[in-house]
Parts: sequence; C-alpha cells; structure tokens
Amino acid sequence: MIKLNTNENPYPPSPRVLEALRAALDASVRLYPDPEATALRARVAQVYGIRPDHVLVGNGSDELIALLLRAVIDPGDRVAFPVPTYSLYETMVAAQGGAAVKVPFPDDFALPEGVATARARLTFLCNPNSPSGTLVPLPAIERLARSVDGILVVDEAYVDFSHTNALGLVGKLDNVVVLRTLSKSFSLAGLRIGLAFAVPALLAGLRVVKDSYNVNRLSQVAAEAALSDMPAMEANVARVRRTRAALTAGLERLGFRVLPSEANFVLARRPGEDLAPLAAALAARDILVRHFAVPGLADAFRISVGTDEEIGALLTALGALVGR
Ligand SMILES: Cc1ncc(COP(=O)(O)O)c(C=O)c1O
Repeated sequence: MIKLNTNENPYPPSPRVLEALRAALDASVRLYPDPEATALRARVAQVYGIRPDHVLVGNGSDELIALLLRAVIDPGDRVAFPVPTYSLYETMVAAQGGAAVKVPFPDDFALPEGVATARARLTFLCNPNSPSGTLVPLPAIERLARSVDGILVVDEAYVDFSHTNALGLVGKLDNVVVLRTLSKSFSLAGLRIGLAFAVPALLAGLRVVKDSYNVNRLSQVAAEAALSDMPAMEANVARVRRTRAALTAGLERLGFRVLPSEANFVLARRPGEDLAPLAAALAARDILVRHFAVPGLADAFRISVGTDEEIGALLTALGALVGR
C-alpha cells in the first residue's frame, strides 16, 4: 500500500527519539505524566526562542483546536475561516455550537478580504493551507491579526516545509495563537504532540478546559528528543521538498494543474473533470490519494509527498490511467 492521503512523513523520526523512548520504558509508567510538560516546554522555549510560559502542549494540535473552541466560544458565537481548509475547524465549531463563517478563497488562494471583517470571536488561518498547500505571506497575517475583533489562530501544521512562519507575532500581538504539530515535519503523528504559542493570559484560558494529564509520559519524552535533533527533521524536510518539486513537475507533464505548494503535499487539478474515479482507480492499484467530494474540489485531489520510489510509482500509475 502506498499511502499518500494523510500527509504523514515518509521518513522515520530522529534515532534519538527511539533511543529516548526505549530508555523511558520502565516502571515509571505507573506514574501520571507531568500535566504541565515542564521539561518539554523548556526545550520548546529553547528551540523556538520563546518563553516557556508562552507554550502549551496538546495531545496533537487537534486537541489544541478543540480547547481553543471550548475556551473561547459560547453557543452562537461566530468563528471565521477561509475555505476550503482543514475540515476539523468546521466539525469542531459545530460540536461547540458556534456559527461557522466560511469565506471562500479565490482561485489563487490569496487571503480573502471577508475574513478580516467577519466579526468573529475566533478566526482560523491554516498556513500553509490544506488542501491547497498555498501560503499567505506574513505581512498579510499581521494585518489580519490587527483587524479581527477576536483571536487569530494561525495553524502552522505544515510550516516547516515552507520558508516563513508567524511565530514572531506571538510576542508582538496578544490576540495571536500559533499552532504547531510534531506529526508532520518531525514524523511523530502516532505520538500526538501539538504546541500552542500565545501570551500566558490566553493560554491560561485553555488550561482551564484541558484534561490535566493530556499528554502521556512517552510522548513528552519523544517530543523532547525530537526537538533536540533539529538537523534530523531538517534533513527529512529537505528530502520532502526535493520530491515535492519532482512530483509537481511530473504531474504537470501529465496535464494536471498544480498550485505552488509550501507543504508536504500538492493539490493537483484537472479543471472540470471529476477526479473521484481516478482516485478510485489509484486505490485499486493500492495507491491512496485524498479526493474531496465537495464543491470546488471535485476536479482535484491532494497527494502527500512520499519517498521518491512512492512518487515514481504514483506517476507511473497516473501516466497509465490518464494516457500520456
Ligand atoms: C492543518 C492541520 N492542522 C492540524 C492537524 C492535526 O495535527 P495533529 O496530528 O497534531 O493533531 C492537521 C493534521 O492533518 C492539519 O492538517
């Protein structure tokens, strides 16, 4: 099975992660984890040049998205985000009884004006965006943060595959939350580690609604080890970026339109053609890509950047199917 549908990293995490996990596997698992993830937050602070009291650790960034909604939203409150984007925002807004204000992206996925004027308590910006892979530049994010009424959450799940980030806004503006995850660039999706960066007063609101022991002992150990070997992550990211360029060129040769991607996936389109049958034909050949049966995306699918071998196999299969 070639799995290119959920944006996992095709490469293993730093060997230090596995060493640290083995060393931590002892009778101490009878004890609860540190509810504050103190050692991990100290490492995060060191790596990102930010104070530990500006960091909250979550059980994946999905948990942090849920905590933000739980802490900030009352039933009926408006939550804005440009669409199409990460589908969990809409699901979690509905679960919390909020009112989703979905502002359509234009064809080039530039930030739509309507997000800033949506009068929302909470605004989500996935940057780079999924499933488009496109990036809103930092000055536009800062303008957005200054014009929204409430809190701006910049979800940077894929930012390590890009060339910029919004972490600098956290020290500058009190209404900005930056979310990161170790699931993608650090190859730790199975261990569920997310990071929220924001001013302490804002994070205090999230702590009120968080389970005390939200991040287990082994995940805290693994995350600390992963962050102590940045070159391993950076080497994997460099490999993914090289393969992303080859994937983009290969898809374009086959007649697909591909948006410039700053993430570990690309959105490939054949304008006007429903790509559900093509995605199904790939699945029949044991190659999984992500098709979204929603308006505006039916003629596209999202392909995660795998190894060179996986992407070679995908392009060969697609070549046979689309006849070029
Ligand atoms: C934009 C975005 N945010 C957050 C997440 C969730 O990441 P985590 O594994 O840290 O929960 C994903 C996972 O696919 C994502 O695409």
